[in-house]
Amino acid sequence: MTTQTHHTQVAIIGAGPSGLLLGHLLDQAGISNIIVERADRDYVLARIRAGILEQGFVDLVKQAGVHHRMEKEGKVHHGFDIALYGQRTRIDLTRLTDGQSVMCYGQTEITRDMTEAREQKGLPTFYTCHDVALSDVQASPVVTFEQNGQQHRITCDYVAGCDGFHGVSRRTIPEHKRTEHERVYPFGWLGLLSDTPPVADELIYCKTHRGFALASMRSDTRSRYYLQVPVTDDVKNWSDDAFWDELKKRLPEDLAQQLVTGPSIEKSIAPLRSFVCEPMQYGKLFLVGDAAHIVPPTGAKGLNLAASDVSTLYQLLDRHYNRQDKDAPYRYSEIALRRVWHAERFSWWMSNMLHDFDQTQVNGMEKLTFDRFMQSELDFYLSHEEGQKVIARQYVGLPYEAID
Ligand code: APR
Ligand code: PHB
Repeated sequence: MTTQTHHTQVAIIGAGPSGLLLGHLLDQAGISNIIVERADRDYVLARIRAGILEQGFVDLVKQAGVHHRMEKEGKVHHGFDIALYGQRTRIDLTRLTDGQSVMCYGQTEITRDMTEAREQKGLPTFYTCHDVALSDVQASPVVTFEQNGQQHRITCDYVAGCDGFHGVSRRTIPEHKRTEHERVYPFGWLGLLSDTPPVADELIYCKTHRGFALASMRSDTRSRYYLQVPVTDDVKNWSDDAFWDELKKRLPEDLAQQLVTGPSIEKSIAPLRSFVCEPMQYGKLFLVGDAAHIVPPTGAKGLNLAASDVSTLYQLLDRHYNRQDKDAPYRYSEIALRRVWHAERFSWWMSNMLHDFDQTQVNGMEKLTFDRFMQSELDFYLSHEEGQKVIARQYVGLPYEAID
């Protein structure tokens, strides 16, 4: 069988939000790119994920020119609530951060917008690719794969590994050249999506004696709710009625009474994990987004952290190709990791603060002592303006590092 050969400046592995956003930005800068994706197009577009975008992400989407539907349908949120055993405190993001906010717009929607825009521009994307393999990434990278019985070979200057936690890119880095930091939490999030009006205008993060709950949304008519459940739980154990009953018990009382319930459109359990791979680069291979790091969803940072990686990599590649700064890409890992660790810490902190740890020992402490410490710490942060500011500044997203 003959092999089809291609050449591009940057081969991108994965057509999730990281790969798509990077592809658009590179294209705007005149840098050619090909995306290679393992799944089929419909599968990629159907995935349900989070929906809170930092300003930095929104700005990048605008820069990439794929912002039109997001600007029309996305909702700016100026704050959110933390309910501590029923007692609500509003984190007024805009006041506490001198004017910043977040955008509520589903990752599913932004992925669709970027996919369609890529097709309209005629940029090459290969879906349903099997046996994707990377070689010679230290010198002259090559990507090979099989699609519909045809072998393909891409030669390129650089490879952007945007292929998520289970992708091939990270595993291409020899084990002795990377360090992986990981914490797996003893609970998961059971999520339910429904065509019902959200219970409130803004998000509500609830810490209760029954465990954590989150009331979120996708639009004025579509809600997204989450419940903390044991990681060993099975979604089959949760009828819609059981979900709504439990949610009512975890929401503040006035909201529980107003909650509108309805049939679920989607229901699934996701495990919670903190993970970082260091370095995020091996020669001419860069790890971007979930391929390099995972955060528990409590701080809404997963997608946003992927966006700051994309911003860093795009700027460094732009310097390489358009400003004759040949060594710029080698700074990627060092710059990206600084922001990654901040977001990891915030997401870990929010998770510790808001969940119920159903163990005898947590972080080396007796569970009861740990719970009391966490309750007291959250209480402390919520009870004064400086504490709320610390939460707000991190929730809207720390600024992207300037690249000189
Ligand atoms: N070859 C090609 N593509 C692959 C491979 C492979 N071996 N393995 C995985 N992929 C594809 C997946 O099918 C998926 O479409 O890579 C893509 C990775 O997308 P995501 O997992 O969505 O990761 P990323 O683009 O980094 O998105 C950032 O933010 O909200 C968080 O975790 C959430 O997905 C989100 C992330
Ligand atoms: C969501 O809407 O899916 C969502 C929002 C905020 C989070 C996590 C998930 O912190």
